[in-house]
Amino acid sequence: MENMVRVVDFHTHILPGVDDGAQSMEHSLEIVRRGVQDGIDTFVLTPHIRGDSDLVRLPHIRDRFSQLQERCRLEKIPAELVLGAEVLVFPSLPEHAEKYMHFTLGGPEKYILIELPFTQMPLYADHVLNSLMVKDFTPVLAHPERYLYLHGKLDLIEDWVDKGLKLQINTGSLNGRYGLRIKWFANKLVKKKLAHFFGSDVHSVHDYVPSFRETMKNASKVLGKQRCATA
Ligand SMILES: [Fe+2]
Repeated sequence: MENMVRVVDFHTHILPGVDDGAQSMEHSLEIVRRGVQDGIDTFVLTPHIRGDSDLVRLPHIRDRFSQLQERCRLEKIPAELVLGAEVLVFPSLPEHAEKYMHFTLGGPEKYILIELPFTQMPLYADHVLNSLMVKDFTPVLAHPERYLYLHGKLDLIEDWVDKGLKLQINTGSLNGRYGLRIKWFANKLVKKKLAHFFGSDVHSVHDYVPSFRETMKNASKVLGKQRCATA
């Protein structure tokens, strides 16, 4: 049965030369190869989009996406690639939400990966996330465990999830890559069944630690395989 479960890396910076992730096509291909070896079937490609001015890069991002798909096909790398983005929250995002449709993952859920600043929660964040949900988007909050200011706000996280928001946990967080506090909170979210998607947040060949499938396997014992493995 295990082979029937899709393993989805929901958060990656693999596209070559579009953000602070992979800087060449060869590096992109090597990351995908390593991920496939690690048991990943599907990669959601989530380049950083930080403000409306980044929208002009959409044609470039799409070109890169097509080129990477084509190279994977030519080199017979059995990976499904899906184009998304990691969108940094900003106050007027809900009013501009339609422009960001390109970065949702398709389907009625309209999943869109949202990043918060690391230092402090902006006053407008709650309003923006709620407004997106009112507009029938499904915000997926990128690595909530890495925002230390959310560690004391489990009630707020649960309230967002009750309203429809999903959470994406970094597999590295569960393994202690970002320190013990983040490891503790990531595992707490899993135990509370508040983990919906997992991502490597990989930025380069060098930081691809081959533990994705193993980490998801462990989490699935707590969450149930279907909860954590499918996009
Ligand atoms: Fe990221």
